Amino acid sequence: MCTGTDTMRAVSSLDYRALFEDNPNAVVVVDRQTRVLLALNDAACRHFGYAREELLGRDVSTLRPAEDIDRMRETFEKSNAPHTVAGPTRYQGVWQHLRKDGSIVHSEIWRLHIEYEGRPASLTIITDVSERVRTDAALRDAQAKWRAVVEHSADHIVELDQDDVIRFVNDENAAQLVGTPFLALVPEAGRERTAERLAAARRAGTMQRLESQRTEETGELRSYDTRFIPFERDGKAAGILCITTDITERKRLEEHLRQAQKMEATGLLAGGIAHDFNNLLSVVLGATELAQKAARSGSPLDDHLESIREAAARAAELTRKLLAFSRKQVLRVRPLDLGAAVDDFLSLLRRVVGEDVELAVRRPAEQIVVKADALQLEQVLLNLCTNARQAMPAGGRVVIELLRTSFDETAAAKESGPLVAGDYAEIRVTDTGVGMDAATQARAFEPFFTTKSEGTGLGLAMVHGIVHQHQGQIRVESRVGRGTTVRVFLPIAQEPPASSSRRDPHVDPLPRGGSDTILVAEDEPALRKLLALTLRDLGYAVVTAENGEQAVREFEARKGQIALAILDVVMPVLGGVQAHERIRLIDPKVKVIFTTGYAPDSAQVSDLVTRGGYALLNKPFQLGELGRKVRALLDA
Ligand SMILES: Nc1ncnc2c1ncn2[C@@H]1O[C@H](COP(=O)(O)OP(=O)(O)OP(=O)(O)O)[C@@H](O)[C@H]1O
Ligand SMILES: [Mg+2]
Repeated sequence: MCTGTDTMRAVSSLDYRALFEDNPNAVVVVDRQTRVLLALNDAACRHFGYAREELLGRDVSTLRPAEDIDRMRETFEKSNAPHTVAGPTRYQGVWQHLRKDGSIVHSEIWRLHIEYEGRPASLTIITDVSERVRTDAALRDAQAKWRAVVEHSADHIVELDQDDVIRFVNDENAAQLVGTPFLALVPEAGRERTAERLAAARRAGTMQRLESQRTEETGELRSYDTRFIPFERDGKAAGILCITTDITERKRLEEHLRQAQKMEATGLLAGGIAHDFNNLLSVVLGATELAQKAARSGSPLDDHLESIREAAARAAELTRKLLAFSRKQVLRVRPLDLGAAVDDFLSLLRRVVGEDVELAVRRPAEQIVVKADALQLEQVLLNLCTNARQAMPAGGRVVIELLRTSFDETAAAKESGPLVAGDYAEIRVTDTGVGMDAATQARAFEPFFTTKSEGTGLGLAMVHGIVHQHQGQIRVESRVGRGTTVRVFLPIAQEPPASSSRRDPHVDPLPRGGSDTILVAEDEPALRKLLALTLRDLGYAVVTAENGEQAVREFEARKGQIALAILDVVMPVLGGVQAHERIRLIDPKVKVIFTTGYAPDSAQVSDLVTRGGYALLNKPFQLGELGRKVRALLDA
């Protein structure tokens, strides 16, 4: 290896000058004793931002920022020490140079001893590394940010080498996993698919995705979305970055939405069917009733008629359930003291759960008032207690608990259905039965979903419909073998409770007739005929109309004669509610019975019926019920 002096001897002085003058690196010559600048090349002038004459003869410390001067002196002193080798020395680290304009340049320095014009001097070759220093800083900055992102990410980030061995995990609690094969950690069931995705990422060199589910130690099923991202090092495939996001919550919301849409669609369908069916069933039931009256009791014909009646009654029960599910029932809501209402139902519920099941009610001391239809509320508890009973074939315990809760905006938004923030009453029905697995739970509210040989699968569907029609919310919590809790939330009413009696107050056991004139508006011809026939049988005079429009005309034509109007809520041209509004303008005292098998805008009818002066007949109805309602309203 050549020393500096050898090198200088080897080149001619002309070459040496060129090497000095034209060197792209800044080169300066400094007196080793006085540290005065003796020579510098053009690149050095540019490096420091001075003209040559400004620097020649100046102390070299001019070119250093204050904090670097001590370090510089030290190096000069060291290099002057007698044992120092005179060969080229690279000074460790990055040095700072001060330019004329005050800015700093970062440099690397090589220095060798020479003799310059007979004096001991050092020749310093300076490389400007400012750019590299800046890049390094930017790189460090980027790395720090990357590390912060990775370390604080909610995602699991795992780096694999080309053999699928874990090289990095972003969870310090899982640091011991570094060095283990990744696939060994994937649950058996998903291993093959994961291996396939990893291979695909390598083959294609592009990101691959995999959605998976995993049962956690808590027994909870969680969903994950993993991205497999191949990466390179020095232009060669180096490994795979696996980024896993927990998507359980998103999945849950998607599932809620899907369920809600399905319930909405089936509800519409069920409501539509129920409407037509109830008209037909009213005819079947009514005509059968009339025929039975005509047939001699005990005759074979009477037997057949009774079979028809029973079948029609069962069909009516089915459409009633469908209607409850479709949220198209007319509700008679009023402020109810929940505790008192539950007390009213208790003897019925006791009968439902039977003797080997204990039934307990827990309620707070304070009164909880909800706006609800008492009969529908009873239906809800009936269905829930029936399910509880059936889930406990060997007996057990049912607890009905009443509580007050409130939902703030965030809590309300988390619920599956639309829920307005505010105060709610909670009815919690808990059993100690067999419970449900996740699959059953997911479908429990679906109409016709049942796991029972004798079930119709409409119990919870009805409950769901009724609760939602009350602007409420329902939730099921269940574990196989651990029992079930159903939680129903109903909005708290601001008014004081109405009287606790839940049945219609005046109902005559037998229908009595009369001679008043009654207007019947019904679009289904057979039903219209049947209604007219029945009422005429009871002695009334009857005027009929096919729709609301015609009903208004008839009413107008017989001003003051018509005592009562029976209006079907759903009719072509003009519906019952709208017809009633026009009739009332003609005679404000007119009494009205609405008939309905389905109310497209049930809230409107509910409102009228709740206000009083109106009665409601749910289709299909019995002819006796019709007669009683008519009489009761005329007498009121
Ligand atoms: N308390 C409960 N414990 C265990 N499983 C239940 C409970 N309640 C409901 N289920 C499950 O949900 C399913 C649907 O219940 P739903 O009440 O809608 O219908 P059903 O009881 O089967 O029939 P139906 O009520 O029409 O007679 C049931 O078949 C049962 O599998
Ligand atoms: Mg049921």
